[in-house]
Amino acid sequence: MSKTLVTYFTASGVTRKAAEKLAQTIGADLYEIKPAVLYTQADLDYMNQNSRSSVEMKDPASRPELADKDANIAAYDVIYVGYPIWWGVAPHVVNSFLEAYDFRGKTVVPFATSGGSGVGNVQTYIAPSVPGAVVKEGKRLGGTEDAEALKVWALS
Ligand SMILES: Cc1cc2nc3c(=O)[nH]c(=O)nc-3n(C[C@H](O)[C@H](O)[C@H](O)COP(=O)(O)O)c2cc1C
Repeated sequence: MSKTLVTYFTASGVTRKAAEKLAQTIGADLYEIKPAVLYTQADLDYMNQNSRSSVEMKDPASRPELADKDANIAAYDVIYVGYPIWWGVAPHVVNSFLEAYDFRGKTVVPFATSGGSGVGNVQTYIAPSVPGAVVKEGKRLGGTEDAEALKVWALS
């Protein structure tokens, strides 16, 4: 059987809940993507053009530093990557994470939580960070999916 890992970044806890539910439902291991410097409430203020998240997201090349690089990606075949949608895409710390490891030959399955936006075009904002991996269509998880629906998506 292929080995599966659910990874996630969360700033305020919503994506953690979705990731835990997914990992439990499909029997996968769990790994949290942590920035070296945690995001404060002020950092997350998207109304403020000068907040940390606004500055990072305006710069396509920004790659916030990670707290660690010890995820055992090599041990897994399928890696789910979960994150909150920020300005229509993944927070750039997710790209920092993906670019820190070798995903060649792996299957990457993006999922996201959001205030309402869809997961967006993962082939443009996730795939370039994982050369040689197959990037599946992403899915927005609303938190209300029942285990059966989650399984049907995750195992398809
Ligand atoms: C900086 C920032 C930008 C956001 N941009 C969007 C967006 O473009 N569309 C959307 O639907 N929600 C947006 N949101 C809301 C988050 O995606 C949503 O609250 C998410 O579930 C938070 O997940 P978390 O608790 O795991 O961090 C944004 C939130 C922040 C902090």
